[in-house]
Amino acid sequence: MAQLPILRYPDPRLHTVARPVAAVDERIRRLVDDMIETMYANEGVGLAATQVDVHERVIVMDTSDQHNQPLVLINPEIIESSAEFALGEEGCLSVPAIYDKVERHARVTVRALGRDGQSFELQAEGLTSVCVQHEMDHLIGKVFVEYLSNLKRDRIRTKMLKKTRDEQRG
Ligand code: NI
Repeated sequence: MAQLPILRYPDPRLHTVARPVAAVDERIRRLVDDMIETMYANEGVGLAATQVDVHERVIVMDTSDQHNQPLVLINPEIIESSAEFALGEEGCLSVPAIYDKVERHARVTVRALGRDGQSFELQAEGLTSVCVQHEMDHLIGKVFVEYLSNLKRDRIRTKMLKKTRDEQRG
């Protein structure tokens, strides 16, 4: 396994729309394993392939308390979402150290393929529901800061550009 570099907002590649995975083969399983390693190494609860510059519909998540229950969602589709909404604080490995509140469906049911290529359904609520919706947004090129006000988004953009510049300068 290998850790993959994570694209940082406002990298334009984060706005790429991912295509469906054609077959869950060895290449996809390697991608999944590398994404899980990358997620854990960066202490994230979710990572979409878009964030590692692979534009196929693959998500990994782990919202368990012990961070020992990785969940793999390939070609995920939301098949049901609650009429009720909930406001929760979100962060993103592509927007490090920024947290803000976003409104999401309180519960969603998602259908996806697992790492074994088998279809399954997941009824998600709480953090898992937030995470599914946040990661699925990545697959359509959307980053959570796009839900915030223009003012906040501009501030975050400036901050991230400066952080990247400072790091490159060393
Ligand atoms: Ni994210």
